[in-house]
Amino acid sequence: MASGLKGIKTVRDLEVTGKVVFLRLDLNVPLENGKISDETRITASLPTIKYLMDNGAKIVMCSHLGRPKTEADREFSMEPVAKRLSELLSAEVILWEDIASDGIKALLQNLRKTQLLLLENVRFNPGETKDSEELATVWAGYSDVYVNDAFGASHRAHASIHALPNIMKNKGIGFLIEKEINMLDSLLDNPKRPYLAVLGGAKVSDKIAVIEKLLDIVDGFVIGGAMAYTFLKAKGHAVGKSLVEGEKLNYARQMVERIEARNKTLLLPVDHVVTTSISDTKSAHTTNDMNIADNELGVDIGPKTIKAYSTALHEAATVFWNGPMGVFETAEFSKGTFAIAKALAENSGNKIVGGGDSAAAAEASGYADKMTHISTGGGASLEYLQGDRLPGLEILRTKIRN
Ligand code: 3PG
Repeated sequence: MASGLKGIKTVRDLEVTGKVVFLRLDLNVPLENGKISDETRITASLPTIKYLMDNGAKIVMCSHLGRPKTEADREFSMEPVAKRLSELLSAEVILWEDIASDGIKALLQNLRKTQLLLLENVRFNPGETKDSEELATVWAGYSDVYVNDAFGASHRAHASIHALPNIMKNKGIGFLIEKEINMLDSLLDNPKRPYLAVLGGAKVSDKIAVIEKLLDIVDGFVIGGAMAYTFLKAKGHAVGKSLVEGEKLNYARQMVERIEARNKTLLLPVDHVVTTSISDTKSAHTTNDMNIADNELGVDIGPKTIKAYSTALHEAATVFWNGPMGVFETAEFSKGTFAIAKALAENSGNKIVGGGDSAAAAEASGYADKMTHISTGGGASLEYLQGDRLPGLEILRTKIRN
C-alpha cells in the first residue's frame, strides 16, 4: 500500500477561506537572458494557486530561484516569474522585496480578490538555507495556514520548507506534491510487470542508492549514458576515452553479478555513437559492437542498442526513466535519448520520468505529453524513490501511534 502521504493533510483538508495562506512553491525555472525558457514548474503550480484563489484565501507565495550568493545577484530576482504568474492567473502578482519584514501585514489587510503576493527569492536571505527559526517566525507571524507544493525542493531542510511548518499548526500539501508522491509510489507498490528502470546520465555514483532500492523491485535495468561505460569496462570491454568512474568499477562488477544472480535483465549498449571529442560532431560514427577504439569516446547509444532497448520498452508495463542515453543537447548525439522517449510514447503502460535532465530530454524529444508523469523534481524524486525521508514532507506528517 502507498504510504508516502499517510498522516499528511492536503489543501482540501484545510480551512483556507479568508485566511492568509503561506504557499511554498518550486518556481525555480531556467532563465535565458532574463527570459523563462521552460515554464513547466510555473504551470504545475497553478492548480493549487487557483484552488486557493477560488476558495477566498489571501495568498503569500514564495520560492527560491537558482543559487544566489547574496541579494545583489539580481539575475535571480523573481520578477520574470511574477510577471508570468500574473499573466497565467489573470491577476495582479505583487512582488514583496523585503522577505524578512512583517510590513507585509498592512498589505495583506487590504488585499483584493484579484491580488496575490509573491516574496522575492527566499534565498536572498541567508536564513533560508540555514533553516532559520528567526526567519520562519516572521513568516508565521502573518500566516494562518502553511501549504507546501514545492515538490522539487522538499528534500531541502530550508526555512520555508522545514522551519516554518515546524512552528505552524495548520499545514498540508498542495495538489502537485500529492500527484508526485502518488506517481512515485506507483513505482514502489505493486507495480505492473514487466517493470524496467532505464538509467542513464554521467555517473554510476549518482544512481547507486536508487539501483540498490530498485534491485528487488524491478524486473530489469536498461543502462545508457556515460554510466554504461563504467559497467562495460567492469565487464572487460574496451571503452576508449569514454567517461569511466574508476573507483566504481568494483561496484559495477558486483552489481552485474547481483542482477544476474536474481535472474533479472540487464541491458547494456551493444554498439555506440563515438567521436574523438564531444565538440567534434564531424568524426562521429557508429561502432560495430560494444568495444570502443582507444582514441574515441562514446557519446550516444548506437542503432542496434536502440532497437534492443525499444523492443524491451515496448513490452514493459511499468517504466521508470532517469538520465539521458547520450549527450542529447547536441543534435548529432540525441538519437538514443529521443528513441527511448519514442519507445515510451508508443507504450500504453505506466511511464514515469524523473526530473532534471530526463525531464528536459523528454521535453526536447517532443513526446513529453505521452508520458504518464514527468516529475518536477530531479533530486527530490530520486531521494524519495531511494527511500530517503524528505524533510519537507516529514514535517507535515502527523505522528500516528500504533
Ligand atoms: C531543483 O531545481 O532541483 C530544485 O528547485 C531544487 O534546487 P536546489 O538543488 O538549488 O536546491
